[in-house]
Order: sequence, then structure tokens, then C-alpha cells
Amino acid sequence: MEQTLVAEWSQHKPIIRAEQVDHYYEGQNGWIHALSDVNLEIPRKEFLCVIGPSGCGKSTFLKIVAGLIKPSSGTVLLNDAPISGPGPDRGIVFQEPALFAWRTVLENVEFGLQMQKIPKAETRKRAQAILEIVGLGHVINLYPYQLSGGMRHRVAVARAWALPNADLLLMDEPFSAIDAINRMTLQDYLIDTWMQEKRTVLYVTHDIDEAVYLADRILLMRPSPGRIGRYFQVDMPRKRDRNSPEFNALKNLITEEMHKSADPSEDLRDSVVETAK
Ligand SMILES: Nc1ncnc2c1ncn2[C@@H]1O[C@H](COP(=O)(O)OP(=O)(O)OP(=O)(O)O)[C@@H](O)[C@H]1O
Ligand SMILES: [Mg+2]
Repeated sequence: MEQTLVAEWSQHKPIIRAEQVDHYYEGQNGWIHALSDVNLEIPRKEFLCVIGPSGCGKSTFLKIVAGLIKPSSGTVLLNDAPISGPGPDRGIVFQEPALFAWRTVLENVEFGLQMQKIPKAETRKRAQAILEIVGLGHVINLYPYQLSGGMRHRVAVARAWALPNADLLLMDEPFSAIDAINRMTLQDYLIDTWMQEKRTVLYVTHDIDEAVYLADRILLMRPSPGRIGRYFQVDMPRKRDRNSPEFNALKNLITEEMHKSADPSEDLRDSVVETAK
């Protein structure tokens, strides 16, 4: 009984908690303050999009959560434990899909499951199921060079999603190299996958339209130094209608804030905006 209560309670705890995170890089002309006093929580199963001007520390924050770099100070807790390196509990998708050229689509998706010693039959079943969801059921035996750019991105997403223990998916502009029309298709596949099997997603993008289409909540970061700006709660039901007045009103509001946030004299720190109720 007690154990059940503990399990239920932990479901409501944030999966990520960042506390007073600062990060500096050594640049050619001195230190670059990439992140300043970042404090945030990501609730379990939330789809959080991070946007903000170039250089505001989005990728730095994602890499810290991925365990690829250690912050200069502060801590990031994943399920209450400090992150000390990469792990199978996090799937990562970067801008360029890094697929294994010598493995088929199916074998690429199976790779992470094999690494985790998941039984062969289960691995195959799961990889096939995810590939169906992302619309690649008919090309599972092709090699990456035989696919279009958009298909390769779908394989990368499927590969991250297939990891059964990856409660957290980290995506850094995964579709930014794709043309606008195909990007929308990829966003649909991604949101279909998320709706069928919810995971926590930390998704970095430059594209405000994409953030409003995908996110439960949007974090706008500010530059110089990179820090938390403002949050936007997106309460529109999915799938969202890009032509609806609410969708466009929110897009316009965020665009305006993004312009303001590039101006260091405007301090938007810690302000929260609730929209589209
Ligand atoms: N390895 C590095 N060495 C030195 N400086 C770095 C390094 N990586 C990032 N920076 C600097 O840190 C700051 C934050 O970079 P980061 O890549 O996190 O920004 P970003 O918000 O992801 O930008 P973009 O939207 O262009 O991808 C920038 O000023 C960048 O030049
Ligand atoms: Mg970046």
C-alpha cells in the first residue's frame, strides 16, 4: 500500500529539476556566460519547447540535461538524482540524423534496444510498431542512403522513441534542415507518436509556429547571458489548427516577445503568461 502511494506520488514529481545552473565556455576573447541562474522544472510527460534568439543557451541547456556537458555550477536532477553523464533513460535527436549507414531502417531503430539487451522478438516488434507510427512501415529494409531527408529524420525520431526506458526525449532542432511543408508532416508524425505513447519531451526550436503546434508549454529564453525569459502555456487541444485565430494570436504574441527579449533593457524574468484558455 505504502509503495503504491510512493509510486503514485513520484508520478507527479517533475522529471527534471534545474537548480541555479550557470555555464561558461572559454571563448577566444574570454569567458562566455552561456547560461545564468537557470531554475526550472519539467513535469513528467510534458512537451516543453524551448525557443529564443541564437546564442541564448538552448543547446547548452539540452546538452547539460543529456549529460554531454557538466554545468559550471548548479545542478540538474533527473528523477531526483544529479545527472552525471548520458544514459539509456534519455533519447537524443539532433539536427542531423546520425544514422548507421550500414544498418537498415529497422536495424537502426533496433540498435538502442539491442544495447539494452531487450529480447530479440520484443525488440523487433517494438521497432516495427514505432516505424509504422512514423509512416515508415513500408521501407524498414532500406538503407539510410535510399531515403529522403525527411524519412531519415523520421528514423532518428523512431530510434529515440523506441527506447523503452527513455522517459525523456531531448530534441535539438530536429527538423530545422527540412523544408516547411515536409517539416509540418514530420511535426504531425511526432505529435502522433507522442499522443500514442507519452514521454517527456524537451524540444529546442527556432520556429515559433512549430513550438505553438507541438508544445504544452513554451519557454522563451533570453540572451546575454542566456537565461529563463518567460513561459507560455498552450492549452489548445491537439491536433491544432494552424489557421485558427487562437493559434495565430499566440504566434504573434510570442513573436513580439521574442523581439523584446533580444533587447537587454527589457526584463521579462520570471513572468508567466497564460494564453489560449
Ligand atoms: N563549445 C563552445 N565553446 C565556446 N563557446 C560556445 C560553445 N558552445 C556554445 N558556445 C557559446 O555559448 C553561447 C550559447 O550557445 P548555444 O549553442 O547554447 O546557443 P543556442 O541558443 O543553442 O543557439 P542557436 O539557436 O544558434 O543554436 C553562444 O554564445 C555560443 O557561441
Ligand atoms: Mg542551438
